[in-house]
Amino acid sequence: MQTRNLIAGQWTDTGSGGEIEVVDPASDDVVARVPMCGASEALIALNCAFEFQPKWEATPFTQRAGVLRAAAAMLIARKDSLARLITQECGKPLPEAAGEVQYSADYFSSAANEIHALDDMHIALDKPGVRGVVRHRAVGVCAAITPWNFPLAMLARKVAPARAAGCAQLAKPAEETPLCALALAEILLECGLPPQCLHVLTGDAKAIATTWLMDGRVRKLSFTGSTETGRLLLRQCSQEIVRCSMELGGDAAFIVLADANIELAVQSALQAKFRNAGQTCICPNRFLVHKDIASEFAARMAIAAAQLKIAPGLEEGSNIGPLIHDEAVKKVRAHVADALKRGGKLVCGGRTKDMRDRPDRFFEPTVITNCNPNMLCFQDEIFGPVVAIMSVTSADQALEIANASPFGLAGYVFGGNHATALAVAQQLRCGVIGVNEAAPSNARAPFGGVKWSGYGREGGIWGLMEYVTTQYLALRELNT
Ligand code: SIN
Repeated sequence: MQTRNLIAGQWTDTGSGGEIEVVDPASDDVVARVPMCGASEALIALNCAFEFQPKWEATPFTQRAGVLRAAAAMLIARKDSLARLITQECGKPLPEAAGEVQYSADYFSSAANEIHALDDMHIALDKPGVRGVVRHRAVGVCAAITPWNFPLAMLARKVAPARAAGCAQLAKPAEETPLCALALAEILLECGLPPQCLHVLTGDAKAIATTWLMDGRVRKLSFTGSTETGRLLLRQCSQEIVRCSMELGGDAAFIVLADANIELAVQSALQAKFRNAGQTCICPNRFLVHKDIASEFAARMAIAAAQLKIAPGLEEGSNIGPLIHDEAVKKVRAHVADALKRGGKLVCGGRTKDMRDRPDRFFEPTVITNCNPNMLCFQDEIFGPVVAIMSVTSADQALEIANASPFGLAGYVFGGNHATALAVAQQLRCGVIGVNEAAPSNARAPFGGVKWSGYGREGGIWGLMEYVTTQYLALRELNT
């Protein structure tokens, strides 16, 4: 297991602030210790990245794509060990973690496949003797700040396009889950990435981010995390006009129309909501179910939820692992208490499961009916396994409630008539939508939100274009 930081081409195990304990949320066992870096290490990394930037930018596309393809292959080859690492540091069940490794590899394949989009484009200008050329130039040194809920994939989808675009990169993974980021850096080096091209620092988020973002040499930030932190970073980025991609909080509506196939809706809700114990930005937060089928939907959800196995992610058959830490449990408890205080009816769950000798972090899959937009769970990301259901009288009412949220990352529509469901989906104000589909994310597709959920896209050609600037040249031919 790699526990050292990659700074200025060197693996280093010391940090100016000491070290951070990485804890398994399912046991509280210390899995590893990593350096607590701060401003001084952040500056060393930045100096090196800035110096190296032109070299990587000048590296031919074929060579860059070669590194990306090799990384995709190596991620797959190491799927089992990486999946265990994901589960150990973030708690999700092992099969989900294996899915995350595949998802991460897909970002590398996708970036390699899309690299041709960076070719120069020629445009006719309707001006005799003058032609236009559009070039896609690397944006420069970029920074990536990633969350704990997908410790490998969220970094992969920033590192892969940045490598393709020709950027040197500085990465800061979440304090809770630094190990996957270090493992990814190790893989990239083994695949031929020059070590000065990627720097991975664990440690003091504020000191590191401030050093990078206020310096002027970092030209791009890609951040995945909370809206609150996103705002702070954006303020810092405004100083040097740093270009940003912000993948922030979600509050996804899951609309079930009167004619929906209830079994499909229930199975899809189960998949979308309970993935990573409800700790994903795109998981449904507000279930808006037509009144004619709302009770049946809730009853079937409760039956299906009761069959889920709550257990440490490494245990065979686990469906729901622990929440990441005690603060997360406190937040989910507060959401449940608030919903019940305001008239919500508890159908199942509502508390943590007593797991002998384990931390009190395993939240039971919970179903609450009779919810409404005044409840905390309809206004704020629950980030836990809670299905909050409101019964609605029409698609229009569902849309009005769905779009009233200041967030706009993902949404879901389930309906028996494709054209109707699609028409509803197209009125949702969010960036990613599943129509009779629980898992819309795909490395080849654009991922990102609107409003308080941020801006910029990750994945496919859209993710790649976030790392280049468009340069236009008007070329007059000289008669020499
Ligand atoms: C997220 O929680 O932000 C990532 C989910 C995904 O990519 O599917």
